[in-house]
Amino acid sequence: MTIHLKFGAKDYSSKELVILAAFSKKEQKEAKEELIIPHWKKGYPEAFHKIISSKNFVGKAGEHFIFHLDDGQTVLALGLGEKKKYNAEVLRRKIASIYKILKSNSTDVSVDVDSFILGTHLDKTIYTITEALIMASYNYIKHKSSPTSPVLQNIYLDSKEKKKSSYEQAFENALITANSVNFGRDLVNDPPNLLNSETMAKEVEKDAKKLKHVKIKILNKAEIKKENMNLFLSVNAGSNYEPRLVHLTYTPPKSNAKTKHICLVGKGLTFDTGGYSLKQAMANMKYDMAGAATVYSAFKAAVECNSPNKITCILGMTDNAIGPTATMPDSIFKGRNGKTVEILNTDAEGRLVLADCLDYACDINPDVIIDAATLTGAVLVALGDEICGLMGNNDKLVAKLEESAKKMDEYIWRLPIIPEFHEDIKSPIADLKNIGGSRNAGSAKAAAFLENFIKNDIAWAHLDIAGVADSQSYLDYCPKKGASGLMIRTLAHYLTTNV
Ligand code: BES
Ligand code: ZN
Ligand code: ZN
Repeated sequence: MTIHLKFGAKDYSSKELVILAAFSKKEQKEAKEELIIPHWKKGYPEAFHKIISSKNFVGKAGEHFIFHLDDGQTVLALGLGEKKKYNAEVLRRKIASIYKILKSNSTDVSVDVDSFILGTHLDKTIYTITEALIMASYNYIKHKSSPTSPVLQNIYLDSKEKKKSSYEQAFENALITANSVNFGRDLVNDPPNLLNSETMAKEVEKDAKKLKHVKIKILNKAEIKKENMNLFLSVNAGSNYEPRLVHLTYTPPKSNAKTKHICLVGKGLTFDTGGYSLKQAMANMKYDMAGAATVYSAFKAAVECNSPNKITCILGMTDNAIGPTATMPDSIFKGRNGKTVEILNTDAEGRLVLADCLDYACDINPDVIIDAATLTGAVLVALGDEICGLMGNNDKLVAKLEESAKKMDEYIWRLPIIPEFHEDIKSPIADLKNIGGSRNAGSAKAAAFLENFIKNDIAWAHLDIAGVADSQSYLDYCPKKGASGLMIRTLAHYLTTNV
């Protein structure tokens, strides 16, 4: 599918089908809903009203109505609901849902973008429609022997307005960001027999080589040993594969001493069996590298969108496997920062990998560190599958991330890290233990653990994406099953703004 942006056109680019916006109006609570037709092209409202059944279409969100013009063109009126409730998320969801219907029965489709305008912002409208189409078109089919390809070939975003560079920029940025979301989804959906720490590092390297102003360094097992990352290595102890630490640095061409430096850190567990603390339900634990996929995809988007910030990306990759050399519960290991950890549960492995990666990140001395990880099942208990857990040591950074999430219509909610949680993860025989005394507040206690590996008062935030990274069946622009790619857009927004 190719999306084309067209300005100043008198006619729609597709002679086959055009999508027009329709809204509903309800004067009072008890009143019946009425249809509002925004600026449809001359002749279209008349053709619509001529059809007797059109009176039943009132433009409610989720409804659509199809009618035909004399010249053979089909028109699809897409219901968006009440105008006062209309926003980017309504548009994103409705465009995605109609795409899924049209992809198998139309070849060329025009979207009258002017009819969908969000307030007075044509750039935001173009951005939202474009990202919705790209995200909705995602399909993980590479292992199907006879995949069905969509019929839909061309989508024209037609506007009467004159071309402006800000519109084109919005279009380009939406394409970049949504394609990065799809890249991240592919990584997460790849199965663990194909995607392990070694192949994942290669896959990321291959992609990162295409990015401008990016330096790549990949640490192998010996180099990770040299860094004294024994907590990271303890997770890798039972693995058939070497661990990998992927270290990417983007330096914007116009950087100077004032340029902000953001460091991303991602949990890249290509499979989590739980280790000797074996998981009872381990199906789908291939998605335990979603933290690494998320931060890399956000990095990729930010670099391609020419972010003004310097960005480092640290990905800690291994699987958590079982075998004669796997770490036994009760083991004590010393982390890169010198703190000792009693590993009471080998299934609480993500925090061990992150601990050493966070300490490594602190030594780079960025202004900000943000990690993302499918860290705890407890975040699903606290916030459901729909909301990302946010924790951190810096109110300003937390507020900025909340703002980015709001701008991108992704749900995020802060959980507090209190001194008592720090007490709970102290070990009687080592500095720390890797689980708290109870299951309660599991996500924030995991974050308290991570905080022990942040030094020099660096502003740090942690995203627990265990809930949101997987199947989001309520979102039309996400696949019903499999990687969602959520939080990539939020992070990409944060990375490309002035922080
Ligand atoms: N990768 C899991 C987190 C997870 C669990 C995500 C279930 C989605 C569903 C993580 O490594 C883990 O196993 N965490 C444990 C921690 C516990 C042992 C303190 C958990 O959440 O059960
Ligand atoms: Zn685990
Ligand atoms: Zn895990």
